[in-house]
Amino acid sequence: MSRKMKNKVVSNLKIERIAAEGKCVAHHEGKVVFVKDVAPGDVVDVRITKGKSSFMEGEPIAFHEYSKDRVEPFCSHFGVCGGCKWQHIHYDLQKNYKWQQVIDQFDRIAKVENMPDVLPILGSENTRYYRNKLDFTFSNNRWLTREEINSGEQFERNALGFHIPKMFDKIVDIEHCYLQNDISNEVRNSLREFALAQGLGFYDIRNQEGLLRNLIIRTSSTGESMVIVQFGADHKEEIETVMVFLNEKFPQITSLLYIINLKKNETFHDLEVVTYVGKPYIEEEMEGLKFRIGPKSFYQTNSAQAYELYKVTREMADLQGDEVVYDLYTGTGTIANFVAKQAKQVIGIEYVEAAIEDAKLNAEVNGLENTLFYAGDMKDMLTEEFISKHERPDVVITDPPRAGMHDDVVQMLLKLEAPKIVYVSCNPATQARDVALLSEKYQVDKIQPVDMFPQTYHVENVVRLTLKRL
Ligand SMILES: C[S@@+](CC[C@H](N)C(=O)[O-])C[C@H]1O[C@@H](n2cnc3c(N)ncnc32)[C@H](O)[C@@H]1O
Repeated sequence: MSRKMKNKVVSNLKIERIAAEGKCVAHHEGKVVFVKDVAPGDVVDVRITKGKSSFMEGEPIAFHEYSKDRVEPFCSHFGVCGGCKWQHIHYDLQKNYKWQQVIDQFDRIAKVENMPDVLPILGSENTRYYRNKLDFTFSNNRWLTREEINSGEQFERNALGFHIPKMFDKIVDIEHCYLQNDISNEVRNSLREFALAQGLGFYDIRNQEGLLRNLIIRTSSTGESMVIVQFGADHKEEIETVMVFLNEKFPQITSLLYIINLKKNETFHDLEVVTYVGKPYIEEEMEGLKFRIGPKSFYQTNSAQAYELYKVTREMADLQGDEVVYDLYTGTGTIANFVAKQAKQVIGIEYVEAAIEDAKLNAEVNGLENTLFYAGDMKDMLTEEFISKHERPDVVITDPPRAGMHDDVVQMLLKLEAPKIVYVSCNPATQARDVALLSEKYQVDKIQPVDMFPQTYHVENVVRLTLKRL
């Protein structure tokens, strides 16, 4: 019956509550309907986009009532750009919904005994301009609004901005983005203006041609900034024109870089990055520790809140100075280096070799001599052999990607029986799944959600597990 519902319109649906991935739940004829881009309390007509036997998915096509909890989105690109999908929800409620998400996932998936209450979510002090990295795309195929199309007029089609969700070749031209501080908006808008005035080519993704391809802007709390321009053609003179322009107009950029990328995709981990002016990295700082961030390095995108997250992690680890700590999925070793002074030894393991090189460099820059870093797939690295060559951990900190931990890794943790595990996750659903498996030997004794990404439905969560005394 539900499959037949596809493309049907359900009228006057009352939106009840937030579910996973930012969608909201409503009910129609006893069946759950997940609706995107709405808020609890809205009454809407919904077009069904997917019909399964147990649930349906839909999108709003008309609003009859707006939720009293709605607020006016502050960004003119809201609704088109996929960046800040929760701007229509007051920040206090966003936090509430995220907190509820964690509770729901742990109730539904982890189902562990004697679970403590989920602590109130730690909100982000900055709810705008909190990101330290944005990635803009040049395109000769600007997204046109319905009004623009209907007007029959001709419009500038070159754009510099963000991808329209699920449309690889359409870019919304960004005038002001509330995610990164001023230099970001100024650099992007000036470069676009300059490129248009000079008649430089904006990238044509369908035909894989055009000079200007991508612009990455990274900023740091130390005031440094990195600008990387990716060129889709090796045209020396035009590249020089662009780089001279940026250098003269923005002398405050401390790291001005470019990449010639003639590949089919925008990834550049395998390409040379040319330092045009300044240093090849910027620095972040926490408690006097310096973290070098190169063009290819990962760093948590909300620096201020990353510091809060790491403090929560360290607090849960409760280190006394004589512990061996394993930091699994260490990335560039930020957590490992952050807790190193409070531990006897920290061992970080991570898949990406370049990240491990950064982790070692960061340990060296900070004079930390009690860290070891290894590159490799976690399930192949965390083995009996590895453990026999190192000391067994007193504390394991684990911060896996959204997919959570591989089952082999969970099984190894169960064998390892470290007295304490601090599990940091950007996906409470997979975290709850892993916690359910670990509950065979572990007791959950603290759950602390942290909001790293205001205006989005994403939530980070930190859980402390302690070994049960059997
Ligand atoms: C959420 S990030 C952790 C970042 C780090 N803890 C930090 O705060 O900067 C997850 C990390 O896991 C790494 N990773 C993903 N799959 C992996 C695997 N199978 N084995 C080892 N590391 C992996 C990713 O490269 C990424 O650096």
